[in-house]
Amino acid sequence: MENVVLGIDLGTSSVKIIAANKQGHIIDQSSVPLTLIQPYPGYNEQDPEDWVIAVKEGIKILINRETMNDKQISGLSFSGQMHGLVPLDHAYQPIRNAILWNDTRTSKQCEEIKSKFGNTLLKNPILEGFTLPKLLWLKQNEPKHWRQLKVFLLPKDYVRYKLTGNISMEYSDAAGTLLLNPNTNDWDRAVGNQLGLGDIYPPLVQSHSYVGHITEDIKKELNLTGDIAVFAGGADNACGALGSGVIDEGQTLCSIGTSGVILSCTQSNEDDYGYNIHFFKHAMPNMSYAMGVTLSAGHSLNWLKETFFKQKSFDEILNLATKSAIGANGLLFAPYLQGERTPHGDAYIRGSFIGINSNTSEEDFSRATIEGITYSLYESIVYMRARGRQIDEIISIGGGAKNSFWLQMQADIFNAKVTALKYEEGPSMGAAMLAAYGLGWFESMEDCTDTFIEIGTSYKPNLDNHKLYNQYFEIYRKIYKQTKEITQNLLNIN
Ligand code: XUL
Repeated sequence: MENVVLGIDLGTSSVKIIAANKQGHIIDQSSVPLTLIQPYPGYNEQDPEDWVIAVKEGIKILINRETMNDKQISGLSFSGQMHGLVPLDHAYQPIRNAILWNDTRTSKQCEEIKSKFGNTLLKNPILEGFTLPKLLWLKQNEPKHWRQLKVFLLPKDYVRYKLTGNISMEYSDAAGTLLLNPNTNDWDRAVGNQLGLGDIYPPLVQSHSYVGHITEDIKKELNLTGDIAVFAGGADNACGALGSGVIDEGQTLCSIGTSGVILSCTQSNEDDYGYNIHFFKHAMPNMSYAMGVTLSAGHSLNWLKETFFKQKSFDEILNLATKSAIGANGLLFAPYLQGERTPHGDAYIRGSFIGINSNTSEEDFSRATIEGITYSLYESIVYMRARGRQIDEIISIGGGAKNSFWLQMQADIFNAKVTALKYEEGPSMGAAMLAAYGLGWFESMEDCTDTFIEIGTSYKPNLDNHKLYNQYFEIYRKIYKQTKEITQNLLNIN
């Protein structure tokens, strides 16, 4: 009977749990859907209890299958959707629903924070999605709730608290609150004090830190008979990087899911990318990363499919794109369907197709969409390179790594070698690795990645293609500024 670890990925649309053995093989996995609560436009909430129910359900599914039994589980850890505010009262009960990363109600609070600190704070832009503006929103809009507030947590930290009774937050997720000082590696209470937040901070721990065992009550409820050690876990992007082996200085990840991410690891605390790029802590001790986020990456392709190509599969749409040419015969797409995170930090910009003519074809629309998503990610790479980051090799995961045409396009646009993985499980793999390392199965995280991760095919950039793409990219970069006012005007009417 082999031992396994569970990697629990608390996402926004589902909880995914994998069970991995010491060789890094996935024995089984489960997935339980989550629902969003959207009481008003721009509001995105979830009931923290729903996360706990879904995680328990996911564990039950696994231990009731024939592939494994509960006694095999030695430890577990988490990956979590970032930034969501979970406000707890003195009895550590949620005071209200959690306000999520994709909630945009806090524009006014962002302006107030900017008026005190400037456009950036603790090496990050001040954006609606982050936790600090949500705390200020709660203080200003729900004073009754604010008076009850004892401590705030982030989504996966709350689930971990419910499973272990331990209140804590770990650095990689704390970095996304706008309250963690990257230089001191501690809460920046001076920032909180200037906004009248009070002492609401949970203790900080490392991602692989042991935080306790599953409580007797939960064990009884789930029929768990063994002792299961729980390790803190990491932010979903940090775990995505860990689960792809992107852990060392200079290593870079491109992940194209619903949103898209460019993440580049650094040991330096000196980096500062200003307003255009995020700078967060990794789930690896003493490691940080620069990160660019395209909010509507895979989401743009999905939108194209659902709106114009309902009968076609994603592969067929990508195949259409191969029949157009670099530059999509003069058609450009800006993927700002739900605003943009980096480099523009603008919740109100909207997308556009530019350059349609009477010969523009389905093939061109497909290609322009894929190119636009990739240009948007490239723009983050351009900002990182301009601030001295060397990005020559990129590990690519997610939907964008399932198709060789798109992988080659990434290599050509990014002007970097792009490599896919043989198998990928995303952030849940990073979470499982944190538990495996925390349990002492490996001497170092590097040993763990060597065992758990297998590199697949690589794609080298074609310099001629890069030069041609770059001509279109330079025009693409102008779209944001030149459509900002127009799309804002449209929003004002609607
Ligand atoms: C990162 C971010 C998202 C969320 C949801 O800054 O907002 O990746 O973590 O997955």
